[in-house]
Amino acid sequence: MKWFTAFILVFASTMAHADGGRLSVPANPQWKTECGSCHIAYPPQLLTGENWQRLMGGLDKHFGANAALDAKENKEILEFLQHYAGSGDKRSAASLRISDTPWFTREHRKVSNKIWTEVKSRSNCTACHVNAERGDWSERGIRMPGGQRWDDDD
Ligand code: HEC
Ligand code: HEC
Repeated sequence: MKWFTAFILVFASTMAHADGGRLSVPANPQWKTECGSCHIAYPPQLLTGENWQRLMGGLDKHFGANAALDAKENKEILEFLQHYAGSGDKRSAASLRISDTPWFTREHRKVSNKIWTEVKSRSNCTACHVNAERGDWSERGIRMPGGQRWDDDD
């Protein structure tokens, strides 16, 4: 029975800490340019394919901005997003915001309200994930407002 317990422990800790490493996607200049000009191009894995489809269907009214694309570009980017999309209820939100998904809330549960106010918006990922433009979302690459490292005392 011992080997089984050991396996579960290793597996569980990998699951808890590997999120940052699983968010890479092949280079896609079109997506980077069109979806990374107003904010970082958010990783496709963090919303479901169904959420991406609805989001891409309403780009003319995109969280108060107009991000409309022509039909061809819209289709190509949607296909890319859906190919790498996440799945399940924890990657889905009625608001179509990654920052409202159960996954996000749980992952960020130790971030205080004071800190959220300092970075102004939860959507402002790069305020803390300073290497995210390079595809690095790992805990090592997190700096809190003021510059200090994130100290996870679990
Ligand atoms: C206020 C700073 C802050 C903002 C803004 C923020 N995060 Fe985080 N994020 C953190 C912290 C701190 C952790 C680590 C939490 C822990 O270990 O308890 C984290 C963890 C993560 C992880 C898991 C990293 C790993 O390897 O375990 C991912 C992925 C992530 N955030 C994505 C995002 C995305 C996407 C956004 C924007 C939509 C975002 N974050 C916005 C502070 C932030
Ligand atoms: C014209 C500027 C603009 C462009 C271009 C743009 N967005 Fe946005 N996007 C916004 C704004 C503004 C918000 C809301 C930010 C906030 O609440 O702080 C937003 C928010 C989002 C969110 C929710 C972030 C969260 O809180 O989890 C997603 C997902 C998103 N955009 C995806 C995309 C995708 C995909 C594209 C490319 C097709 C795109 N955006 C292009 C302006 C833009």
